[in-house]
Order: sequence, then structure tokens, then C-alpha cells
Amino acid sequence: MSTVFGPKKEKIRAIDGVSFYVCRGEMVGIVGESGCGKSVTSQSIMRLYDEKEEVSYSGTVRFEGENLMEIPYKEMDKIRGNRIAMIFQDALSSLNPVYTVGNQVVEAICIHQNVEKKEAWQKAVEMLMKVGISEPEKRMRQYPHELSGGMRQRVMIAIALCCKPDLLIADEPTTALDVTVQAQIMDLIQQLKEEENMGVILITHDMAVVAENCDRVIVMYLGQMVEEASVTDIFEHPLHPYTVGLIQSIPQMTTDSEQELFMIKGSLPLLTQIKKGCRFASRCPYATDKCREEEPELQKTGENHSVRCHFPRFGE
Ligand SMILES: Nc1ncnc2c1ncn2[C@@H]1O[C@H](COP(=O)(O)OP(=O)(O)OP(=O)(O)O)[C@@H](O)[C@H]1O
Ligand code: SF4
Ligand SMILES: [Mg+2]
Repeated sequence: MSTVFGPKKEKIRAIDGVSFYVCRGEMVGIVGESGCGKSVTSQSIMRLYDEKEEVSYSGTVRFEGENLMEIPYKEMDKIRGNRIAMIFQDALSSLNPVYTVGNQVVEAICIHQNVEKKEAWQKAVEMLMKVGISEPEKRMRQYPHELSGGMRQRVMIAIALCCKPDLLIADEPTTALDVTVQAQIMDLIQQLKEEENMGVILITHDMAVVAENCDRVIVMYLGQMVEEASVTDIFEHPLHPYTVGLIQSIPQMTTDSEQELFMIKGSLPLLTQIKKGCRFASRCPYATDKCREEEPELQKTGENHSVRCHFPRFGE
């Protein structure tokens, strides 16, 4: 799948040839630094740009046999928030400040389940209990700003799950929260994933969160996938120099001060300044002339491991 923004003259190819799958009951992490295309990937799956942006997609997003890139936009409404749900980093701006929490959960239930208001209210209370909100009846009557950040995120999760989605896309769901609450929210997503047997795409820039929660990982750099593998393989045998750098910049994993020197140097180039060759070459300690000339392809190195690099770091 590729997503290109803008009118003909100033096209920005925000993601380029991204291709992956998610199974039921599985959590797939998408990692990479700010601006690498994590959100564009998830929002393209949901076709959230169609109405607001000049955008064109290519490639396919298969969801239970259907290509989401080809179905009419109106049909997407039935899938979005129904069979695929999404939660974002910032629960405060996703919730409507002028309605009570109860109102918003009840509305979500009424949209997705054929029930009367009174029954929906009862279901909303149960839903809030399920996501670990204490005194749910009291919370239902409160407004979003009266709740803590962690609690608001729990409400967002409750709303997302009202429709019993097959796939949940969580875009930095815990970034705005402190570390303890972060762990609680991830535990909750993990538990609900198992109970509902849904697939989860977890978008994060935090490799430690990936290590603890995901089954598989996709590492993105400047709009492309540069590595894909199981969590065990990524952490035990990272092959792409960028992945190696990401892992070594997790504070707890760096015990040797020498290693810290490997921290990824430089910053992400602009999408409009992409040169020929490997996109990581300007920051890669192993770059050669070949890297600067020829763009590497994503190639399989094992049954479930792929990397986009001319000189993968085997045996390190
Ligand atoms: N609507 C848009 N129009 C044009 N370019 C866009 C649009 N949305 C995103 N981009 C560009 O696409 C690239 C990827 O953005 P994206 O939001 O996916 O990054 P990200 O990996 O989610 O970063 P972050 O960690 O900061 O959320 C960026 O260079 C961004 O400027
Ligand atoms: S292809 Fe070359 S520049 Fe790119 S990541 Fe691999 S070694 Fe580094
Ligand atoms: Mg983002």
C-alpha cells in the first residue's frame, strides 16, 4: 500500500509499498521515529483522508477477503468503527467536551447494537466496569475534563470496543500517560484482545512497549518498512542497522556506555528530499557506495523475517 498526498506538482509519497498482515488474536507493533509514516499507515487502512485531503492510494488492504482500497467510500462507514475500531493518543480531544461520558458511551452502543436507551445505559455501565473504571455510574454523569488521562483513555477503549471490532488500531494509545498508567492500559488492551480474539495494530515509538506486548513488529523508516519479524527475532537478531539503533536506545537495555555511542545519529530527512539509494544511508554507520546508489528491496531472510538492507547485521 502506498499513500500519496497533494496535487500533481507537489506530491508527497508519505508511505511507500507498505505490506503486512494481522491475524486474529495477534498484536502487531508498528515502530519508528516521528514522521516515519505510522499514522499515515493506520489512517490509510481506515481511509480517513478521503474526505479532507487530496490523496491517492495504491495497493491493497485486504480485510477478511475484501480490498478496502476498492470499496465505495460509503461502504467504509460500515467497516470503520464497526469491524475496525481505532483509538488515538489524545483521549481528551477525541471525546466531546460538552457531553457527559455516559452520553458518549451510550451513543456508541446505540449506533452499534439494536437496543433501547435504558438498556444501552446499563450496557455502558458494564462496559466501563469491564475497562476497569471504578464507580462507573458516577463517572457516567461526569464530563471528560473531570476524569484523569488514564480514565479518559479507558473510556475511549470502551467506546472502541462497543462494536466488538475484529481489528483494533491503537495509535500511540499510552504516550500521553505516565508509566504506571501506561502499563495498566496496555494490560487492558492485551486482556480484551484475548477475550474478544481481535487483531490489534499497536503504533508506538517505544520499543520497550513493543517488547512487552507485541507478537510481531514492523519497523518503519521514512515511509517504508525496513524490517518485519517476530518480537523475539527483532530483539535477539535485529538485522537492519536502524532497528539495531532503536533497540540500543532503549535505556534499560543499554548497560555499556560504549553502546550508547551507537544511538542513531542525525534526524529523519524530509520526504521531499529523498535521494537515490537506501533512505537510511545518510545516518547509517555501515553505508557504502552501493547503499548510496541502489535502493535495497525488502527481502526475506527467514520464514518470518524480512529486511530492507544490502548488508544485514547477521551474527551481531
Ligand atoms: N495530510 C497530510 N498531507 C501531507 N503530508 C502528510 C499528511 N499527513 C502526514 N503527512 C506526512 O507524512 C509523513 C508521515 O507522517 P505520520 O503522521 O504518519 O508520522 P508518524 O510516524 O505517525 O509520526 P508521529 O510519531 O509523530 O506520530 C510525515 O512526513 C508527514 O509530514
Ligand atoms: S543498505 Fe546500506 S545504508 Fe542502508 S541500512 Fe543497509 S547498510 Fe545501511
Ligand atoms: Mg503518528
